[in-house]
Amino acid sequence: MKDPNWRKCVLNADSRDIIKRIPDNAIDFILTDPPYNLAKHSTGNINLPGRSSINNNLADWDLVEFNPEEWVEEFLRILKPTGNLFIFTSYNQLGRWYNCLDHRFDFSNFMIWHKTNPVPKIYKAGFLNSCEMIFTCWNKRHTWNFSSQDEMHNFMESPICSGSERLKNPKHPTQKPISILKRMIEMASNEDDIIFDPFMGVGSTGVAAMQLNRRFIGVELEPQYCQAGKLRIEAELEDFMRRRSKSTYTLFGESPTMVCEEMDDDYSLPQDLLQFFSY
Ligand SMILES: C[S@@+](CC[C@H](N)C(=O)[O-])C[C@H]1O[C@@H](n2cnc3c(N)ncnc32)[C@H](O)[C@@H]1O
Repeated sequence: MKDPNWRKCVLNADSRDIIKRIPDNAIDFILTDPPYNLAKHSTGNINLPGRSSINNNLADWDLVEFNPEEWVEEFLRILKPTGNLFIFTSYNQLGRWYNCLDHRFDFSNFMIWHKTNPVPKIYKAGFLNSCEMIFTCWNKRHTWNFSSQDEMHNFMESPICSGSERLKNPKHPTQKPISILKRMIEMASNEDDIIFDPFMGVGSTGVAAMQLNRRFIGVELEPQYCQAGKLRIEAELEDFMRRRSKSTYTLFGESPTMVCEEMDDDYSLPQDLLQFFSY
């Protein structure tokens, strides 16, 4: 029988190294937000007199060439036949995800997240970047939790992260709102399912997963983002346990934080996770 207590595993590593160690058909829902390579299309930061500039260049990690095609085989291998795959993406990469995924699944579609408070464009030279796309795909008999037509719109609205939800240190330029992630998790997975986010950032998918009593595996390359995500996810799980008075849950994934440069071929997933998979 599977260890019912295993809830989360957060790893500071390169997902390329982690994903190949995940067994076949192990994941119920891949919900992820990979780099968009948008900085290449940016007109640069906009300097405003007397104010901080508007940051159009996302981050250094966004400049690293990201090829959707390189991830597809492994995503398919680890996803259960009943699983769902949702990928945040942008206009410049949507077609690439479609081309490499659509023919591999029974169905594909997309969702829109409309940001009600996008960064303003003071010179009115184009559209606001107020929409983000999520490429979605699945096979017949996948998990799908809708009870009414109203719940089935592929359009969601929320402000971008701000206020107390927005981390200040480290500040992640693309931190996603928990409300949007929860909506997707509720529709595409069940309680105790395993959600995998190989590009975890500051752990927003993990926080949403804990709030909804799902299990979570998250991987993030940047140590400071990973650490911030780990703390958020742990706090959320503890809070969840308190609310549910289930003191039996244990916090796994505490094993040595892995820095990708130090990993060698002998590296393996934490024992608790391996045991969970091998039961
Ligand atoms: C768009 S952000 C994700 C933000 C996240 N949704 C959040 O709410 O915080 C993409 C993240 O992927 C990370 N990343 C890029 N390549 C990676 C890799 N090969 N393995 C693990 N993480 C990676 C980047 O450091 C960045 O934090």
